[in-house]
Amino acid sequence: MIIRRAEPKDLAQIVLIEGLCFPEDTAFPAGMFSYLIRYSIALVACEPSAKVLGFIIGYASGNAGAVYTLDVHPLYRRLGIAKALIAALEKELKAEGAKAVRLEAALEKPETMELYRKAGYRERELVRNYYGQGKHAVRMWKCLM
Ligand SMILES: CC(C)(COP(=O)(O)OP(=O)(O)OC[C@H]1O[C@@H](n2cnc3c(N)ncnc32)[C@H](O)[C@@H]1OP(=O)(O)O)[C@@H](O)C(=O)NCCC(=O)NCCS
Repeated sequence: MIIRRAEPKDLAQIVLIEGLCFPEDTAFPAGMFSYLIRYSIALVACEPSAKVLGFIIGYASGNAGAVYTLDVHPLYRRLGIAKALIAALEKELKAEGAKAVRLEAALEKPETMELYRKAGYRERELVRNYYGQGKHAVRMWKCLM
């Protein structure tokens, strides 16, 4: 598996995976991914054949970084791909000056919180209605120093 910067040619596969991970009303639209590939740090995990297995998108702002979104294709889960993507993004964020990284995890998805906890993130606050009415998130932070 290779982890590299996402490119415009990956857009269709990214949109496909997003559609497999989230319902239509909450999935990011293609236009948003097109923008994020260009203007944020978007990484894909792929096979040598260029098949995309998962992706992570984040950005650095001042001395903090953030993870926007993280998706792994349902057929390739529990293989450590998300873990590797998080580590690769943290490396890029650190290189851009981030000393800590923030992310939001859905309260209704304890497995996601477990993934981030294992990667060293800790819960700091509850963000009510972050994903829509009644859909709360937990904001988690990790220090990169
Ligand atoms: C959450 C998600 C990104 C995890 O991807 P993954 O590649 O399967 O995760 P990893 O294999 O790197 O898992 C690392 C650790 O996280 C935890 N974990 C991951 N998925 C889990 C699950 N479904 N249930 C319980 N623990 C889980 C485990 O501790 C795992 O370690 P282990 O396999 O040695 O037990 C993936 O399930 C996904 O894309 N879900 C839909 C989109 C989503 O919810 N994204 C999250 C934030 S926006």
